[in-house]
Amino acid sequence: MARGQVLALPVLLLLLEAVTGSEAAQDNCTCPTNKMTMCSWDSQSGRCRCKAIGTNHEVNCSTLTSKCLLLKARMQRPKGGRSLVRPSEHAIVDNDGLYDPDCDREGRFKARQCNQTSVCWCVNSVGVRRTDKGDQNLLCDELVRTHQILIELRHRPAARAFNHTDLDAELRRLFRERYLLHPRFLAAVHYEEPTIQIELQQNASQKAPGDVDIADAAYYFERDIKGESLFSGPRSFDVSVRGEPLLVERTLIYYLDEKPPQFSMKRLTAGLIAVIVVVVVALVAGVAVLVITNRRKSGKYKKVEIKELGELNKEPSL
Ligand SMILES: *[C@@H]1O[C@H](CO)[C@@H](O)[C@H](O)[C@H]1NC(C)=O
Ligand SMILES: *[C@@H]1O[C@H](CO)[C@@H](O)[C@H](O)[C@H]1NC(C)=O
Ligand SMILES: *[C@@H]1O[C@H](CO)[C@@H](O)[C@H](O)[C@H]1NC(C)=O
Ligand SMILES: *[C@@H]1O[C@H](CO)[C@@H](O)[C@H](O)[C@H]1NC(C)=O
Ligand SMILES: *[C@@H]1O[C@H](CO)[C@@H](O)[C@H](O)[C@H]1NC(C)=O
Repeated sequence: MARGQVLALPVLLLLLEAVTGSEAAQDNCTCPTNKMTMCSWDSQSGRCRCKAIGTNHEVNCSTLTSKCLLLKARMQRPKGGRSLVRPSEHAIVDNDGLYDPDCDREGRFKARQCNQTSVCWCVNSVGVRRTDKGDQNLLCDELVRTHQILIELRHRPAARAFNHTDLDAELRRLFRERYLLHPRFLAAVHYEEPTIQIELQQNASQKAPGDVDIADAAYYFERDIKGESLFSGPRSFDVSVRGEPLLVERTLIYYLDEKPPQFSMKRLTAGLIAVIVVVVVALVAGVAVLVITNRRKSGKYKKVEIKELGELNKEPSL
């Protein structure tokens, strides 16, 4: 897609405007909720307008930016020293979510993604691949919604275990205040030292216009945990429970879609329907792991059987 060149000019103009407009620096014009933006004063409306880097998409700086636009902005930057570990050859998917996505007019992922190449696949609403890769004839008829996100954190040893009630309250406050997520979408906080699970749940019918999507809240959280905050300015991420800081050692994020993913795996045909992609967010590296689960009659997966990398050869139980 030659959108890059088309974009270069407006971006340049924006830059120029930002520089020359500094004499009118009565106020600084930045986007508090997304530092991956280019902002400038709009002389007509007198407003500070911000566009996501790498697109022409104007973002609303009083709420979170969609994950699709954030991923896209991230891919514009030259690759740093970020080193990924090589997934085990037993891993079926090697997608840790890093690709240059196509976003729709609302900034959401398009159902079909091709990573700017001729290899395409279908993704869910968090942008994670849920089908085999195909060529450009691949059809993805709808964007399947990820209605549950389970964030599993392991904290470093604290002097003593956290009080579950306090931990719960602190994490709810964090998601409400920092990620602007409506409290009803944080279904539960489970805790058994040292593992904390944050369960986000939001199906299409529950989400009102203007509500932050759990996909975006989880992504902002993921980047905060990695020390790559997306907020501009000094809104540092420090969570503590009764004065005891919560230091995270390892994070796993499980995404559960409303419909079973469609991977063709000969080995796993009869009986096994659902495969869920898990993104491991370690502080230094990201690895994608597959989780195998069984589908309940309801068509929604209530229970998730988690299998990690080393266990993938086993037949799924349940
Ligand atoms: C924005 O401007 C105010 C004063 O106008 C200043 O105090 C503040 O530090 C500035 N913020 C940034 C991020 O530059
Ligand atoms: C997408 O393309 C980039 C750059 O070519 C590559 O580094 C990345 O691994 C690709 N991602 C996927 C999921 O194919
Ligand atoms: C946790 O703290 C709450 C008050 O915030 C207290 O009522 C409760 O008894 C504490 N629980 C434990 C197990 O200490
Ligand atoms: C959405 O979630 C609510 C509460 O969890 C549930 O009652 C409802 O059936 C769900 N709707 C759909 C379409 O899945
Ligand atoms: C920006 O988001 C806020 C919070 O969701 C909403 O109230 C406001 O109407 C949005 N502004 C625009 C211009 O869409």
